[in-house]
Amino acid sequence: MIPRLKPYLTARDWPSLFFQDDGLTAVFEDRFAQLTGARYALWLPYGRSALYFFLKGYGLAQQEIIVPAYTCQSVIGPIKETNNIPVFIDSSPDDFNLDEHLLSGAVTDRTKAVIVAAMYGTPIDLDFYRTMKNRGIRLIGDYALGLLTFLTKQKDALDVFDLAFFSFGLGKEVSFLGGGALITNNEEIYRRIKELRDQSCRPAPINRQVKGLLKFWGAYLLFRPEFYHLLYLLSEKSTWLDREKGLTMGVAHNLPEDFFYSPHPWQAKLALDRLTRMDQFITDKKESLDYYYRRLAELADLKPGLISWPKYGDSYSHLPVLVPPSTRDSLLRFFIQHGIHSTVIFKKTLDKYYTGHLTFPQAQRYADGMAVLPLYYGISPKVIDKVINTLQNWMSSGH
Ligand SMILES: Cc1ncc(COP(=O)(O)O)c(C=O)c1O
Repeated sequence: MIPRLKPYLTARDWPSLFFQDDGLTAVFEDRFAQLTGARYALWLPYGRSALYFFLKGYGLAQQEIIVPAYTCQSVIGPIKETNNIPVFIDSSPDDFNLDEHLLSGAVTDRTKAVIVAAMYGTPIDLDFYRTMKNRGIRLIGDYALGLLTFLTKQKDALDVFDLAFFSFGLGKEVSFLGGGALITNNEEIYRRIKELRDQSCRPAPINRQVKGLLKFWGAYLLFRPEFYHLLYLLSEKSTWLDREKGLTMGVAHNLPEDFFYSPHPWQAKLALDRLTRMDQFITDKKESLDYYYRRLAELADLKPGLISWPKYGDSYSHLPVLVPPSTRDSLLRFFIQHGIHSTVIFKKTLDKYYTGHLTFPQAQRYADGMAVLPLYYGISPKVIDKVINTLQNWMSSGH
């Protein structure tokens, strides 16, 4: 079965698993700051930890935090946990990011921060946010899905954002099987968050460390084509892997139970290795996307309006396609029948956290009509051909 994603893991990583030196986290932070061009970088247990430590570090409570209506629901957990109020904004009709034109109507005296996500790695309109700078509202760049976008197109983002964060979870374009990082040019933000992180985080207990190693082996084996069907069943037909999909554990549990554990030493080792491969990841993704878009161009005239995808060159992260909501299940089923795993991500944020009277038609449209095509480091043209041919057959079948 063709997986929808595949973390880059090799047999050369095995020796790292026995690595026990905690000092590598600080080395990672130095290198990550260099790579991103930031003054400061901090390793975090999750990408969303940046939000938690920021809100806590500045003692913010009962304040309004603006977030995209279409985003990963895990972002809302830290806002709720610190007793702040998420205020949702609908998505843009042109891409998957939040619609900047709606921001002015949502800002109130209690707005303390705006979280702007590079959804599926779609670049953020930095020029717009430049105009919001220094107005007493903190601007936070969520690049959980956009590390490669940041590195290739938005290295000046910290001119605009007070801080930006990244996620290295299992499904991310560069993964250390967990963890996150924040960057900032603001010394005060750095110091406050670092202090709080150092006070709050501790090494994982032994059972958690064993679980971490099992996760490495599980990912190493289960993403292989011969075993992938099992992983597909676990991830789509059971709730076992929901946490890996960025889902929190219910409104009563805003933060996952391992939220305050430091990274495993082997993760830092893996991370340092991956930082040296960033150019390789970018080149490879670009080649795969060039090929995908060449093939997608052949579909463009087949049934105009039936299906669409992001502009070429926008994102290195995912390749989402948008179909009429009533046909999406049929598309996903068709893919599965042909041995391809395509799936839906980010469908539940609003259902779970929003019960107000506003509606978010664009976010709803994306949540109901989006499916992601397989994309990962090393995906071959042959696999891409199979995905596109299957998509083409589905489009011509009239479902
Ligand atoms: C857009 C977006 N923001 C934030 C996050 C949170 O990242 P993490 O799970 O590392 O906290 C995710 C995770 O998938 C995400 O997709």
